[in-house]
Amino acid sequence: MVQKTFAIIKPDAVEAGNTENIVTMIKDNGFTIVDRKKMHWSDNDAKTFYAIHKERPFFGDLVEYMTSGPVEMLVLEKDNAVQAWRDLMGATDPAQAEAGTVRALYGTNIGRNATHGSDSAENAKIEIAQFFPNL
Ligand code: CMP
Repeated sequence: MVQKTFAIIKPDAVEAGNTENIVTMIKDNGFTIVDRKKMHWSDNDAKTFYAIHKERPFFGDLVEYMTSGPVEMLVLEKDNAVQAWRDLMGATDPAQAEAGTVRALYGTNIGRNATHGSDSAENAKIEIAQFFPNL
């Protein structure tokens, strides 16, 4: 079933100049890029997006990191896009990510892990609506 998911190339990966390398991996793996935009998140953008994690000990660091520089946000489409993008990213912790995945190649540690992907089709809709309300 054709599905949409939400991807973020996080500040350290953008700053390191890896945006187009990651976009090339996305295209080479058969995703359609429905829309994309580069944006520097406000504190409120980050707190809203990661509200589900607000009780976690790393929440403050996560918000600080995600607002430290611009991110590239992409809406991706493919059969089973949610799982397909998660597979291409690899494990949340780059040290655990399979060789050749985005996080293994471009992530630094569990906090600075290069990319985000929605964890379900329902959350993909919510995440896309926050930044691409016209979709
Ligand atoms: P992401 O997929 O964007 O969703 C939540 C993020 O929280 C996750 O990627 C990690 O970057 C971050 N995160 C998860 N666990 C930790 C942790 N133990 N320490 C710091 N950041 C974390």
